[in-house]
Amino acid sequence: MKNLTADELREAYLKFFESKGHAIISGASVIPENDPTVLFTTAGMHPLVPYLMGAMEHPAGKRLTDVQKCVRTGDIDEVGDAAHLTFFEMLGNWSLNDYFKREAIAWSFEFLTQHLGFRPEQLNVTVFRGEGKEGEPGYIPADDEAVEIWKAQGIPEERIFRLPREDNWWGPAGTTGPCGPDTEMFIDTGKEKCGADCRPGCHCGKYIEIWNDVFMQYNKNEEGKFVPLGRHNVDTGMGVERTICMMSGAPTVYDTEIFAPIMAAIDALRSKGYSSRQPAVDNQLSDDDVLKARRIIADHMRTATFILCDPKGGVKPGNVGANYVLRRLIRRAVRYARMLGIGEGFTVKLAEVICDKYNHVYPELKVNLQQCKLDLEAEEKRFNATLDKGEAMYKKVAEQLKLHGQSQISGKTAFKLYDTFGFPLEMTCEMAAKDGLQVDRAGFDEANRKHQELSRTTSAGSFKAGLQDNSAVVTRMHTATHLLHAALHKVLGPTALQKGSNITPERLRFDFTWPEKLTPEQIKAVEDLVNGWIREGIDVTKKLTTVEEAKSEGAMALFGSKYGDQVSLYTIGDISKEICCGPHVTNTSELGSFKIQKEQSSSAGVRRIKAVIGNLS
Ligand code: ALA
Repeated sequence: MKNLTADELREAYLKFFESKGHAIISGASVIPENDPTVLFTTAGMHPLVPYLMGAMEHPAGKRLTDVQKCVRTGDIDEVGDAAHLTFFEMLGNWSLNDYFKREAIAWSFEFLTQHLGFRPEQLNVTVFRGEGKEGEPGYIPADDEAVEIWKAQGIPEERIFRLPREDNWWGPAGTTGPCGPDTEMFIDTGKEKCGADCRPGCHCGKYIEIWNDVFMQYNKNEEGKFVPLGRHNVDTGMGVERTICMMSGAPTVYDTEIFAPIMAAIDALRSKGYSSRQPAVDNQLSDDDVLKARRIIADHMRTATFILCDPKGGVKPGNVGANYVLRRLIRRAVRYARMLGIGEGFTVKLAEVICDKYNHVYPELKVNLQQCKLDLEAEEKRFNATLDKGEAMYKKVAEQLKLHGQSQISGKTAFKLYDTFGFPLEMTCEMAAKDGLQVDRAGFDEANRKHQELSRTTSAGSFKAGLQDNSAVVTRMHTATHLLHAALHKVLGPTALQKGSNITPERLRFDFTWPEKLTPEQIKAVEDLVNGWIREGIDVTKKLTTVEEAKSEGAMALFGSKYGDQVSLYTIGDISKEICCGPHVTNTSELGSFKIQKEQSSSAGVRRIKAVIGNLS
């Protein structure tokens, strides 16, 4: 096996596909140009969707190859293991209705074995096993052709795994667009199987996926059905970091030459400390805790740096959409840095190291570094201030407990620290452990649940450090929900009545009475209305009144009996009047934009809409 650097791998890949008649094109911005369905470019195919659909011809031809910067935060909780990253580079080769499975698989095999030096015995592949019954609606045949092609390369039956759609199907997540069965290539690391069922796709680390060839023969339509696309495209994606890792025999992606300077910088900051700020949590960490924290800091800072330096620009730490994702990454890095005793100023230092490592490939890193550093510095300061305040509050709580000879922080108190001061539960637990105190986690969950019921919202469990930010997003979602309700009335009439609502920082969910599936035209009309009201910038006003009076003004009072004498009546221009606990924004322009992601049945006679809000691009 060869031991290429990332630079050498990019070059070898592009050259190889150039020799197979592909034009080398430049990768796109990591912030999508004209695609409201994703917050970031998550795969090389996004910028190419119009060409894959056949809406237009690509000026460079039918065979393309490139390197694409990708951001995927869906697996953020997995970051810290051997192979998950929130930012990665994807090598891709495309056929726009030109070659198909035979060439794609044969070239993948040739490149892996002859150019990268993987032994054929290390390769394990998965293919789509089909779905449904022949002759019935929804039937999609198994990809026997891919199996035969792999066998022709010399891959034996026992290393070809036939898996369902969850594993071997690719298309833009949750939305419409080109898609199809795929075949994924895994390297066997040689580790022991974790159990009898261990196979490619298992997360134990024995098999690492490095490449995916997608055969786009279908289009997922507005109804979620897969209809033939009338074209045969190939979309492939090889992960640079994972491939380098497998070639070098490194145990994790963080142990490769790509991460070496970033890890070294983290360790240097750790041993020196970087500013006068005292490490917040001086606890005894296990080796595993340290290992994981270093990886999370390295991963999140690399992603944040690429987002902040992106040539398209416009994403800053904030409370909505892509801005919120960026904030979440930076704050998580800050939290883990504090855990390791790394002082303030580390984000800027790491951005410099990342820029040094990559700017010869991505010149935007150098061009935008100054501004990136300013943004990082400001966000790091802000979040440290929040954490300082939370810690001070925690200390008061702990002192009081000790004074009264108690040893448990109640769930209510832990929740107050989290809710009012933005202090993450994990930090309360860490500090409590050091002080020999217990934390009533079940009580915390209970307090959290009650709070959510009260405001009819839920918060993002996945990022507990950001409740204050979550609150801001949730506030916007509340207002978006009122606008959605009003739009449904306009489009469907007054019988489309709210049956339930649930909000997380990621999306709003709205159930309403309606007997049948909404048509694409109705969905579009609702979206257009809401976006129109957002663009108009209508004031949202609140007044305290009584249920009777509010009703006499024509307000919708959905849960009338639950309210006391005094109720809050929220009015959005002449669009909407609803009794509601709030909170709401003060002007609809704060919502940015509105998009319906899903419309489905909830129960008999009740439909469910899931929608998101984001920044207008
Ligand atoms: N678009 C395919 C993927 O991301 C190649 O896996």
